[in-house]
Amino acid sequence: MEKKIPVIIDCDTGVDDAGALMMACASDRLDILAVTTVSGNVGLEHTHPNTLNVLKLFGRGEIPVAKGADAPLVRPPFKASAVHGFNGLRNYQFAENTTAAQVDLPAAAYMAKLLEERAEKITIIALGPLTNVAILLLARPDLADKIDKIIFMGASYQDGNPTPIGTFNVLVDPEAFRICLESGLPVYGVGRLLALQHAYITQDELEEIGRIGNRVGDFVYRILSAYTDYRLVDGKKVIAMFDEATVAFTAAPELFTCQKYFCEVDCGNDWKRGLTYIDFDGNLKKAEEEKNLYYVETADREGFVKLMLDAIRSYG
Ligand code: RIB
Ligand code: CA
Repeated sequence: MEKKIPVIIDCDTGVDDAGALMMACASDRLDILAVTTVSGNVGLEHTHPNTLNVLKLFGRGEIPVAKGADAPLVRPPFKASAVHGFNGLRNYQFAENTTAAQVDLPAAAYMAKLLEERAEKITIIALGPLTNVAILLLARPDLADKIDKIIFMGASYQDGNPTPIGTFNVLVDPEAFRICLESGLPVYGVGRLLALQHAYITQDELEEIGRIGNRVGDFVYRILSAYTDYRLVDGKKVIAMFDEATVAFTAAPELFTCQKYFCEVDCGNDWKRGLTYIDFDGNLKKAEEEKNLYYVETADREGFVKLMLDAIRSYG
């Protein structure tokens, strides 16, 4: 078997973060060293316990969870409760809450501890605003060379949620994304458009999840059925899998294509905030080493859906 990829997953556990954690926990290609939590879809008072509870539900209650930032670096937080529900999981109630896996160190400090201790480089999968990752890079630039890559659910240039142009994770903390783009590290952007166009499930596939009949399938079916960020095509739901696609890209990159470009992010305060300017045509004539974003452009949708449903089935 191929060597597993050591990862830290940073998330603002809402509905799609939970789906992404489900896929990561089921993957035999990922070694999840820790999960860190950040304010995003809903406040940290929900994203943190949601993370602890879903990991236990997935049978991975041993994975250390470190609590992170409860607000962006230099902006007031805003939430996506309308989409994810007041508690982030469409008001799903767990039989019991757990804090057993919570570690005492805050997220950035725990990331730093792992980067110092581990011999091999670590991949950071960022499924929420990049606040924790930016704090780590600002506080411990000496550890940057222990990070193999940052794989981020974000980057948008022609669509956005909820503004016309800024995808949520960038919109909430654009300065954090700029810090990552300027870090010199390999940053991969799994954009919103990728999921809208290639990594989505249909209503029929959602119903197939509902028929799998194990506790994880029932959980995923429940929260996705109540999730409101979907499109209707011919009267049927099409649900983009933003965070699930990001984990899938990490675990099964062969299902995706990506290209390296020069990119800047808009950190202004008007409607363009969070816009990811990507020089697709190379008009700026940037040198190869100045290109700072691997933008994920396509996905094999059937392969992605199979990976997701097989992951759910693997829970027995
Ligand atoms: O725009 C979608 C992203 O923002 C997803 O990561 C979702 O969970 C929210 O964090
Ligand atoms: Ca997320």
